[in-house]
Amino acid sequence: MARITAGVASSHVPLLGVAVDQGKTQDDYFAPIFAGYDWTRKWEEEQKPNVVILVYNDHASAFDMKIIPTFAIGCGETYASADEGFGPRPVPDVEGHPDLAWHIAQSLILDEFDMTIINEMDVDHGLTVPLSMMFGQPEKWPVKVIPLAVNVVTYPVPTGNRCWALGEAIADAVASFPEDLNVQIWGTGGMSHQLQGPRAGLLNREWDNRFMDLLIGETDEAREIEHIEYIRETGTEGIEMIMWLIMRGALGKKTRALHRHYHIPCSNTAIGHLVLEPESS
Ligand code: DHB
Ligand code: FE
Repeated sequence: MARITAGVASSHVPLLGVAVDQGKTQDDYFAPIFAGYDWTRKWEEEQKPNVVILVYNDHASAFDMKIIPTFAIGCGETYASADEGFGPRPVPDVEGHPDLAWHIAQSLILDEFDMTIINEMDVDHGLTVPLSMMFGQPEKWPVKVIPLAVNVVTYPVPTGNRCWALGEAIADAVASFPEDLNVQIWGTGGMSHQLQGPRAGLLNREWDNRFMDLLIGETDEAREIEHIEYIRETGTEGIEMIMWLIMRGALGKKTRALHRHYHIPCSNTAIGHLVLEPESS
C-alpha cells in the first residue's frame, strides 16, 4: 500500500534557483538561507521517498489568462523546466508517476473534487526551486513527482478550508493505491511577500511564524484563515501559503515538526521551511 510518510513546506523563491544554478549558495547573502535546508537534504537521502506530490503554483508559465484551473494534477510521464524569460533552468526533466497520478485523479473526482487533468506542461520555479533546495544538483531527480498546481494568481482562488479538505482527500487516494510506495507531499510558496504596488517588499515575521505554529500539532485553525487576512497581513503573494494547507490536510489530525527554518530577507520574501510527520493521537 502507498503511504504519505511526511510533509514538507518551503518557499519557492526564483532567486534561489539562480543561486544554485550559478554556484552561489555559499555567498554571504545565500549561505544562511541554504544552511536551513542542510538538515532536510540529509534527511531526504535517508528517507528515499519514491514519489513527491508537489503542490505548487504556476506563475503564468504553463497557464495564462486563457485557462485558469483551480486545482490541476499532472498525469504525464515527464515535465520540462519552463522558460520564464531567461531560458529554462539547467535542471533535469521531472519524471512523473502516471499510474499513481491517474489513481489520485480518479479518487479525487469521485470524492467530488473537480480536478483538471494535465498530460503535458512545463514546470516553472514554483516546482523546480523546491526540488533544488531539497536535492541540490543531481544528474537526475531522485524522486518521481506528481505536480499539483493551484491557482493562487487570479481571483477567485480557492479557500484555505477547501485546500485542507483536498489534502485530506489526497491522503485517502494515496492510501488506496495498492503498490508499496513511500510518498511525501510538499506544500510550496509563501511566505509573506508582495511583489508590486505601494506595499511591495512587505514582510510579516510574526504572522508567518504563527502560521507555521498552526501547522504543527492538533489544531486545524489555519483552515479558517480568510483570503483578506493573508493579503492584509502578508501581502498579495502571501496567498501562496494556502498551498501549505493541502500538505497539512494530507497529514491527518496531528503532526510533529522534525525541522523548522525561517530567514529574512530572501529576495522580496521570507524563507519559511518545515518538515512535518503525521502523528497518531
Ligand atoms: C519571489 C517570490 C515568489 O514566490 C515568486 O513566485 C516570485 C518572486 C521573490 O521574492 O522574488
Ligand atoms: Fe511564487
